[in-house]
Amino acid sequence: MKPNRPRAHLTAPSGWINDPNGLIEWQGHYHVYYQYNPFSCEWDTPYWGHAVSTDLVHWRQMPVALRPTPGGPDADGCFSGCMVDDGNGAPIAVYTGVVGADEDMRVETTCLARASEDLTRLRAHAANPVVDGPPSPEATEGFRDPFVWFEDGRWQQIVGSGSRDVGGIIYRYVSDDLLRWEYAGVFHRGVGDRHDTHDTGIMWECPQLVRGEDGDVLIISVLDREDPSRRKVVGLAGEVTPEGFVEKSRHLVDHGSAFYAPAVMRDRRGRTLLWGWITESQTPTACTRQGWAGTLTLPREVWVGPDGALRSRPAAELAGLRGTPLLEAGLDLAAGERHPLTEAGAHLWLEADLRLDDADAVRIELLASPDRREHTDLVVDRRAGEVRLERGASSRSQAAETATERCAFDPSSGRVGLTVVVDASTIEVFVGEEAAITSRAYPTGPTSTAAAITAEGGRACAEVACWELLAAIS
Ligand code: FRU
Repeated sequence: MKPNRPRAHLTAPSGWINDPNGLIEWQGHYHVYYQYNPFSCEWDTPYWGHAVSTDLVHWRQMPVALRPTPGGPDADGCFSGCMVDDGNGAPIAVYTGVVGADEDMRVETTCLARASEDLTRLRAHAANPVVDGPPSPEATEGFRDPFVWFEDGRWQQIVGSGSRDVGGIIYRYVSDDLLRWEYAGVFHRGVGDRHDTHDTGIMWECPQLVRGEDGDVLIISVLDREDPSRRKVVGLAGEVTPEGFVEKSRHLVDHGSAFYAPAVMRDRRGRTLLWGWITESQTPTACTRQGWAGTLTLPREVWVGPDGALRSRPAAELAGLRGTPLLEAGLDLAAGERHPLTEAGAHLWLEADLRLDDADAVRIELLASPDRREHTDLVVDRRAGEVRLERGASSRSQAAETATERCAFDPSSGRVGLTVVVDASTIEVFVGEEAAITSRAYPTGPTSTAAAITAEGGRACAEVACWELLAAIS
């Protein structure tokens, strides 16, 4: 039995995965590549794993697509990158090649890889590297994760970097042919301000752009080298201009501790789809015991809201993940009365429209054991003005981190729509379209699978629908 393993989220057959890479829709297929170490459950020299789908619901695992070239500029790893159509019908991966196993001595460059016709093999280009390192010695923290798009008749590339004394930096390059790149200045930079609520650290990884009518969002994955637990994903709301990115405000892209290094793509319908890496919150030893580590989020549709911040929801196709209906009910919740929703919630899609009436809070228990010694609670707390995921009792094992995660909730209307997807040890929560919380929970008991709902301190109403989450990875 594999109690922690998701069945609808992309997870490596075995070994370690991190960032999603090279997202592209090509001839009716969605391709997702990912940072992959097939040899152990810890991060090491990355390859690109690969999965394919025609409907965003069902995924087929494919063989490794890209591997380091001995003696090449990616000899010690094919780090993160993207995929573009070169305009002549050939998909090309643009990624970071790494030489040097020691983190402080690494040489990071931009490399290209041409895809075979079916996109199953990516071959490193003979011209690699096409950008041979940062444009300035101020880039002390790395130079990686190219994001490429076509605009104003030219290819544009932004690359993540950072300076120990200053903060994150994104460099910009332009090209006519993807091969020769001209440095075009700093696209955006941080100020390493620890007093800002969204402190953006000293290294910005995996820059991604979401374009919208109401502005653009530059997504950065923020690495704080002094305290790696301070990893987070920040959306910089603003505007792309010829001179660089003009930032107007900042927000978190996801409020969970297990979400990092998301990547976006635009599909043929014009939607922007996003996948993130769902990190493990349990120890490396526990991962090695289970044989795999890390998974990707479900595909999310994201867009720029009227306030310039990112909005998200599960891609519409994911309704196809809803299997057997478990419950559909309008519930009048009396204060303190616990309503069971299902016993079979290890793989669960739950929709809840809540009206708090005079209740202070509504608590939805997930992954609960019959004796309730294990449970993970999603709490809509009107008094605190927050939605939080309480993980203190998630697991009786000591091997997992269990901090509470929270996002703001405007208590004035007393209404909120929640979408919750539990897929074994992964939990994705959408609070309206405004906020998401991606998290992990590792209950130890095989019967820690129940869900229930309770109003606290008063009455509340809940329209709830639950389905079994289908298995979708082969
Ligand atoms: C983000 C990251 C990227 C890098 C990759 C290496 O998680 O550190 O910056 O390209 O992972 O696996």
